Amino acid sequence: MISVHKPNSAPPLFGYEALPGFANADNIVAGILDRMTKAKTNNSHRARRVGIVIMAAGKGTRLKSKHPKVLHEVGGKPQLAHVVSAATKVVPAQDVFAIIGHEADRVRQAVAHTGINFILQKEQRGTGHALMVAREALAPYDDVIVLSGDAPLITPQTIQKLRQFHESEHPAMTILSAQLQNPTGYGRVIRKSPKSPEVKAIVEEKSATPGQRKIGEINSGFYTFDAKLLFAHIDKLSNDNPHGEFYLTDMAAIFGKAKKNVVAFVADDPYEVLGSNTLAELVDLDQRMRATKCRQLMSEGVTIFYPQTCVIDCDAEIGADTVLEPFVQILGKTRIGSDCRIRSHTVINNSVIGDGVLIRPGCVLDEAQVMKGAQLGPYSHLRPGSEIGENAHVGNFVETKKARLGKGSKANHLTYLGDTVVGEGVNIGAGTITCNYDGQHKHATIIEDGAFIGSDSTLVAPVKVGRGAYVGAASCITEDVPPDSLAIGRARQITKEGWVKAKRAERQKKDQAAGG
Ligand code: UD1
Ligand code: CA
Repeated sequence: MISVHKPNSAPPLFGYEALPGFANADNIVAGILDRMTKAKTNNSHRARRVGIVIMAAGKGTRLKSKHPKVLHEVGGKPQLAHVVSAATKVVPAQDVFAIIGHEADRVRQAVAHTGINFILQKEQRGTGHALMVAREALAPYDDVIVLSGDAPLITPQTIQKLRQFHESEHPAMTILSAQLQNPTGYGRVIRKSPKSPEVKAIVEEKSATPGQRKIGEINSGFYTFDAKLLFAHIDKLSNDNPHGEFYLTDMAAIFGKAKKNVVAFVADDPYEVLGSNTLAELVDLDQRMRATKCRQLMSEGVTIFYPQTCVIDCDAEIGADTVLEPFVQILGKTRIGSDCRIRSHTVINNSVIGDGVLIRPGCVLDEAQVMKGAQLGPYSHLRPGSEIGENAHVGNFVETKKARLGKGSKANHLTYLGDTVVGEGVNIGAGTITCNYDGQHKHATIIEDGAFIGSDSTLVAPVKVGRGAYVGAASCITEDVPPDSLAIGRARQITKEGWVKAKRAERQKKDQAAGG
């Protein structure tokens, strides 16, 4: 549940000490809070129906990428997925609409599992046009919150505050704004006067005068509209501007002319509203999101040495007293238990690691499972379907795929185990290879409890080594080995005594005859 913002107990609505041109912000806040309280008292009628619309139809030309902008990832997930996740914590998924257009199918697929609705904007003629296309779907709502699919750091708490500010003020449009040290590229919020909570217009960077460009208060691209008023006036938008697009931002001036109220609500955290029009901005958002994740994990008892060198996706979970050394990547939905040590240059993706696991440097794990107390590496490669049992060891240059290693079993050096089930207490000697592929099909190798596989053996699947059996070193095993038996599958050694000595003498004789 999202905590509901209570006007009386909330942090200051204008969360900045330095608000240029806004010296008297505290008085404004006091006035707004007063009106919010009054509005609350008068609000005995039914709750307002709120829909959220996420603009996600644009191509993202400035990214210079063939992939749609909203599918570019931050924190290991498409940026749109973050915005959808925040939105669905404020209203139910059935009241959330994504406007899609460029590569619509791919974008829809990426977030369809959330249960939200989609609106197709076939031609992308601007943010105002996007809302025109959404008119029918959004008309049943009282208020419409507009979010941007390319601003993924937004939190449900801030959306909720924007909603409540709007509900208590009842303007036609509430703009979520922010004070940025470098506002370049963003639309600027032009207040009626520096002290006024009311907004006259939003001016896009390209159309702004040099004076307006100095304004530090930017338009986040997030708004709440009174739906009736929005759709009664939206047709007044024109595309007479440098981009030839219908700008949703022009609604501020249109409402002003129609004597409807437009206000701005300043975000507490300016970073929450940052957008990602360029790859440099996208990387910046990614770093901010990961830094936040690291701080959260550290507050929960995870030690992260040199966090700025680690890449931890936002969905990863790590238990207390686990230590991450520098240059570690924890990706996807990986879950790591407590008391583990993950040493440098290890990359773990979508894997589950139990408690007390030691992963030495340079390991790569993908969709693998490692039980408590196991030890890996250095340089182990666990591919999908690997299950490493309790206290088992997987060592240097060992690759596993769809392979289960039982409790306490060891494969310590230079080994490939594919489509293999290894029981408990098994020792797999250095250089053992399971030959699981016959060129057409994959076959299984079974090695039962307590077996011992001598070094440099090849086990040609399908094959089974019975409980407690031994395989002699350098064997090529093509037939099942019964329990407690010894199998040796190699040519017998032949020793020719004195052979080298005789050869050497022969050669010397030849050299002398040749006059050497
Ligand atoms: C917009 C705002 C700007 C604000 C900034 C904040 C306008 C005109 N300008 O600029 O004031 O400071 O966001 O980040 O709105 N989209 C569609 N359909 C379209 C066009 C865009 O769905 O036809 C989507 C895009 O995919 C994107 C979002 O709307 O997710 C915003 O569009 P974008 O082109 O990034 O606007 P900005 O130039 O960043
Ligand atoms: Ca943008």
